[in-house]
Amino acid sequence: MADVKIIQSKPRKTPNLPNYQQAYQEFSWDKAAGELVDFFPDGTLNIAYNCIDRHAEGDKKDKKALIYNGDDGTKEDYTFADMKKLTSQFANVLTGQDVKKGDRVFIFLPSIPERYVAFLGILKMGGIAGTMFAAFQEMALLDRLQDSQASVIITNADLYPRIENIKKDLPKLQKVILVERGSAELPAGEHIVSYDKEMANASAEFEPAKMSKDDYSYMLYTSGTTGKPKGVVHGHLDVLQAMVSTKYSLDIQDDDIYWCTADLGWVTGVVYGVLGIWGLGGTSVIFDGRFSPEAWYKVLQDYKVTVWYSAPTAIRMLMGAPTQPKDFDLSSLRHLASVGEPLNPEAIWWGMDAFGLPFHDTWWQTELGAISITNYPGIEIKPGSMGKPLPGVYAAVIDDGGRELPAGEEGDLALKASTVSSLMKTIWNNQEKFDSYFRGEWYISGDRGIKDKDGYFWFVGRSDDVINTAGERVGPFEVESALVTYPDVIEAGVIGKPDEIRGQIIKAFVVTQPGVKQTEELKTKIQAHVKKHLAGHAYPREIEFIDKLPKTRSGKIMRRILKSKELGQDIGDTSTLEDY
Ligand code: WT7
Repeated sequence: MADVKIIQSKPRKTPNLPNYQQAYQEFSWDKAAGELVDFFPDGTLNIAYNCIDRHAEGDKKDKKALIYNGDDGTKEDYTFADMKKLTSQFANVLTGQDVKKGDRVFIFLPSIPERYVAFLGILKMGGIAGTMFAAFQEMALLDRLQDSQASVIITNADLYPRIENIKKDLPKLQKVILVERGSAELPAGEHIVSYDKEMANASAEFEPAKMSKDDYSYMLYTSGTTGKPKGVVHGHLDVLQAMVSTKYSLDIQDDDIYWCTADLGWVTGVVYGVLGIWGLGGTSVIFDGRFSPEAWYKVLQDYKVTVWYSAPTAIRMLMGAPTQPKDFDLSSLRHLASVGEPLNPEAIWWGMDAFGLPFHDTWWQTELGAISITNYPGIEIKPGSMGKPLPGVYAAVIDDGGRELPAGEEGDLALKASTVSSLMKTIWNNQEKFDSYFRGEWYISGDRGIKDKDGYFWFVGRSDDVINTAGERVGPFEVESALVTYPDVIEAGVIGKPDEIRGQIIKAFVVTQPGVKQTEELKTKIQAHVKKHLAGHAYPREIEFIDKLPKTRSGKIMRRILKSKELGQDIGDTSTLEDY
């Protein structure tokens, strides 16, 4: 950190970074500030109205909202008027199925336009929308659907068998709405509803539900050190911070073509693939296809993408690929940003070389609902730093007693809770977990950090055992739980192991039943088991057989010891350990 080379980022299109009041007044949050363009006259609001209807009713009605590029080469465009019609129809489909305000409706689809229509249709009628990554398998699905007590799921024929298999354990599930696009014959059943048929019959008129700013809008399950994934619940007011940050961190202007590479199953896909960009009436590219440098550069080139929001692992994969940006015309790009895991300085240098632009690192979390620390356009970038707080957000590095630490000292990265209007509203059915995030006025992120003398924040690591692999947050407990369902496995301890491309990979230490042959083949079988039952991205890329796991006297796995062993470090104080 001592001698960093500073990069001057290109000036932002909107000349000045406003202060907190100015930024908020622009989006008419403060009633006293003037015209209430984004809220209903009585002060209520609805994200779907804010993102779609008000643009469709104004001069952006024929502007492209969604540009879809499918897996099979399908290309479709949807204007704000199209999106208004479709989301209203879907809201009618849901009310027709007796879905009520506050009911949980979950989406389990690949990245197709119907996923976005469903998401906003749910919000429009006042339901709570949950999204799930299409790579989720039965254990991951069951955890989410059981805990949220979802009454409706929207999926397709390809993914449906995973739901069918767990349906018996989901007593609250009433209906499964199946989208036909690209799929063979639809399964039949009393609970099955055809998306296409219902949409064809649904009225295109729907009065968006009037929601208070604290009413729930969407929920996403995310991992901690212990237990199953927790349901982070957000409010309708989130759209405000999404818009402020999309404008002042990502610099979105009316004529931009924007591509956020994150999947709607993760928070970045929700907030920066939907809320922020459409809140501003911007154009968003959706690419449903596997990652490849050629495919990605083609998307950037063919759609003349101007603002690109991506992630460090993808950037590192692009860096190392034989196909490089020089083989494409990427001259439309003007602003690059990144999120999800530490952005190493080399990636920024490569960006400068390959695109003539630096990647702007941004930091936030599922719980925060919007970018909180950022390298905003025009800032002097210190490569390796996450940047500075967004206007209005108060971030600090604090000690155990909640006192702010002096510049240069490592501590807990925390935010004044009252300064983040998009902060989660609750953890679903888990007040205790929700409360555990707070220390007085501070929201504790779980990350360790340093603030330097110039007010830049630097990421140090997690203060817990949460793993960040390729930008995806994985809880060791979930992986351990999946591992022990394999018959030969007695117990398992899981850690994040440093990896040059993925940041971390999941490594599992596994104890097998007596007499089991600990072969490479067994490792492959165990890996396949986790992929099949938990999720494709959450399997251990490395497995090591071990005789016994280090545990505390009370029986908790000491992952810290496994990690130190793996890294060849001193294992530290072991006085609380069971004999090891
Ligand atoms: C965790 C949150 C909301 C963004 C997608 C991930 C890590 C996030 C950075 C960054 C270093 C980062 C943190 C954080 N993280 N951004 N710029 N530099 N680490 O959301 O799944 O809730 O994960 O991702 O550890 O706590 P998430």
